[in-house]
Order: sequence, then structure tokens, then C-alpha cells
Amino acid sequence: MTTSHALLEVDALAAGYGRAGVVRDISLHVGAGEVVVLLGPNGAGKTTTLRAISKVIPASAGEVRFLGRSDKREPAFALARRGLGHLPEGRGLFFGLTVEEHFALSHPGERRISFAEALTFFPELERLRTRRAGQLSGGEQQMLALARAMARGPRLLMIDELSLGLAPIIVERLMPRVREYADVTGAGVLLVEQQVNAALRIADRGYVMARGRVRMTADAEQLIADHDLIVASYMGDSGEGVEA
Ligand SMILES: Nc1ncnc2c1ncn2[C@@H]1O[C@H](COP(=O)(O)OP(=O)(O)O)[C@@H](O)[C@H]1O
Ligand SMILES: [Mg+2]
Repeated sequence: MTTSHALLEVDALAAGYGRAGVVRDISLHVGAGEVVVLLGPNGAGKTTTLRAISKVIPASAGEVRFLGRSDKREPAFALARRGLGHLPEGRGLFFGLTVEEHFALSHPGERRISFAEALTFFPELERLRTRRAGQLSGGEQQMLALARAMARGPRLLMIDELSLGLAPIIVERLMPRVREYADVTGAGVLLVEQQVNAALRIADRGYVMARGRVRMTADAEQLIADHDLIVASYMGDSGEGVEA
């Protein structure tokens, strides 16, 4: 196992909504400077897994160890303060606020982030400084969301569907910026993505989920080379829809 330098170690995690279990037996790890992609069809449990890791929802079993520490009573905001960043599906922007105003916002007790810091990651935002988020293109909105997440300086950044609603060419342009964040800062990235190929091109490793479980894991190169592996995982272990 190569988990000794892992920023994040997830062991046999289970979670769901109310009494309904959605994901179980999820084990994965992310090391410093690593980009790890979490793939799987719609409804596989990818978003639920990220939510359980960042404690947006409680885990019903298993362990999440972040920066060597696992504390079931540690609340989500404390985990975030220790450096766990979670960019949720839907970006979490305020359409009535300008780009710059997004950096004046912070939750109580949260470290203030600066627009200047965000510009080091996305200098393009300078010319959009006074534009309202609602008037930005989808790609510019995602850039703003990423810039806010990165400006907090997370040691581990989890991103849920960067590509949602974006044209493929925009996705191709944004993905390398995620790779760069890991390379430059040494942070780990856990990326949930439907655009499999775009994600694998910047990733080191991947996990494939289906029906609430991790079905397989492999190096990104191997996943790119053997596309059938992913397809088989998407089908689950019942052999449903797969020719024998
Ligand atoms: N807030 C929720 N309440 C109840 N069930 C949910 C909720 N969010 C997701 N689910 C269910 O959990 C399962 C996994 O969903 P999700 O984690 O969003 O999958 P993915 O992100 O891989 O598409 C789905 O069956 C979905 O209907
Ligand atoms: Mg999802």
C-alpha cells in the first residue's frame, strides 16, 4: 500500500440519506500532489461519497483520515479550516455579486480570502473584476468557483463535476489548471467527473464507482488504454448488459 504519505485516507466508508444507505465499503486515498479521479455513471454515489468525506452528511460506518487525523466528532467547518476544500456540484456562486465581491464573503470563523490570491491562479479574472457572476459565461463562472476554492489554499481539493454544463473545449482548457494547482502547491485533488477522457488526461489514478461501491482502481494511463475496463465497471458486477 502507498498510503503512508496520503493526505486523505478513506476506509470502508458508508453513507446515505436518512436510513437509506447509498454508498458503502468505500476505500480510497489521495497523496500529496496527486490528482485522483472518481468516475462512474449517474447515481453511482460519487457526490454522496464527497459529501460524506467533507461531513456535509454523516457517515454511518468507516473512517476518514485527513492529514493523519480522524475524528468522528470533528464538524465540517473544522475539517474545512484544516484544509479540506469541497467545490460542490452547481458551483455555489451568487449571481447578483461581482467577481471581486465573491472574495469579500466568508462564513464566521473562516479565513478571509483575497482577490489578489485568486488572480495568481486565474489572472483572467482581473478583466472580469466588476462583472456580476450572473453575466459570466459558464466557463467564466466555473473559473470563479475554482479560483475561490483555490484561494483558500486547501491541502486537498475535492471538485464535483467541473464539466457540468460546459462545452468540451472549455473543459479541456480548465482541466490543466486543476493539474497545475496540485503540481504548484503540492495539494491533492479528488475530482468527480463525467467527462472521463478529459479527467483521465490530467489524473494520476482513478477509481470507478457503480451502485454505491468502488468497482475498480487503476493508474490513469491504464484506464485510458483499456477503456473496456471502465465500461465493464459501469455495468457493475452482475454482468448485466455485458456479453459473456
Ligand atoms: N439528498 C438526497 N436524498 C435522498 N437520496 C439522494 C440524495 N442525493 C442523492 N440521492 C440518491 O443517492 C444515489 C447516489 O446519488 P449521487 O451520490 O448523487 O450519485 P452521482 O453523484 O454518482 O451521480 C442516487 O440513487 C440518488 O437518487
Ligand atoms: Mg453527482
